[in-house]
Amino acid sequence: MSIPAAKRDELVAAARAALKHAYAPYSKFHVGAAILTADGKTFTGCNVENASYGLTVCAERNAIFAAVAAEGSGMRIKAVAVATERDGPCAPCGACRQVIFEFGPDALVLFRGQSGTEQMAITKLLPEGFRL
Ligand code: THU
Repeated sequence: MSIPAAKRDELVAAARAALKHAYAPYSKFHVGAAILTADGKTFTGCNVENASYGLTVCAERNAIFAAVAAEGSGMRIKAVAVATERDGPCAPCGACRQVIFEFGPDALVLFRGQSGTEQMAITKLLPEGFRL
C-alpha cells in the first residue's frame, strides 16, 4: 500500500511533533509516532517510561491505543510514522510490530533505517505475524 507523498510528509511531521512530549527520563531516548487510520484521521503518541522500567510503553503503541479509544474497535491502520530526535535508526520494536499488524495487516511503516528513511510494509518488518 502506498500513500501520497504529501500525506506521508504530514505523518512524519506529526510524529516529530509528538516526540516533544515523550517522558523518557531513564533512557533519554525520545520517540514520537503518528498513525493514519483508514478513516483518514491522524493520532499521535510518544514513549512514556516508568521507574519500574518494564512498564514503559512505546510511542507506536500509545498512538495506536489512542486511535482505538477514539475510533473504536474497528479502527484500522493505513500507515505509521516513527520519529526520534537522534539521527540514528529507529525501526519499531517487535512488540509494536505485532500491535501494528493487529490493526493494520496492510499498513505501511515509515521510519529511519540503517540507510535513511524507509517505507516498508508491516508484513516485511513482521513476516508471519501472530493471529488467533
Ligand atoms: N521505544 C519506542 O517508543 N518505540 C520503539 O519502537 C522502540 C523503543 C522507546 C521505549 C523506551 O522508552 C525507549 O524507546 C528506549 O528503549
